[in-house]
Amino acid sequence: MHNLHMHEKTTTSSLNNTFSAMDSSNKDQWMAIGHETSKNQPRVAQSILTMLNSLKDIVDGFSVDQLTHSLQTATRAEEDKAEPQMIVAALCHDIGKAISVANHAQIAAEILRPYVDEDVYNVIRTHQEFQG
Ligand SMILES: [Fe+2]
Repeated sequence: MHNLHMHEKTTTSSLNNTFSAMDSSNKDQWMAIGHETSKNQPRVAQSILTMLNSLKDIVDGFSVDQLTHSLQTATRAEEDKAEPQMIVAALCHDIGKAISVANHAQIAAEILRPYVDEDVYNVIRTHQEFQG
């Protein structure tokens, strides 16, 4: 059985299956996992777009649905010649509402955190405090 396990180390998926505890993993396995994760990174953008698109079903008493609100906000940022990251922030600041309105700003901020500067992250995280 143990030898069969050793021979399986020829493909990435079998590499991922060769350990079931962190302390029995090795560098090659983690290199393969890192490679696969990077290769699959576009799914993050797709997930964000799916969340954004789902906001069309949320109105919650506002005059427009939340997708329209997001597009309006991004359009205004673009017209103000904001930095690209800030336009992304304007577009995506409410995507957390796809999961939970109560803490949506923090959800959106954490999703976008690896892809934006710290100040943009903080604008998204605290955007509810700017509403007058
Ligand atoms: Fe918001």
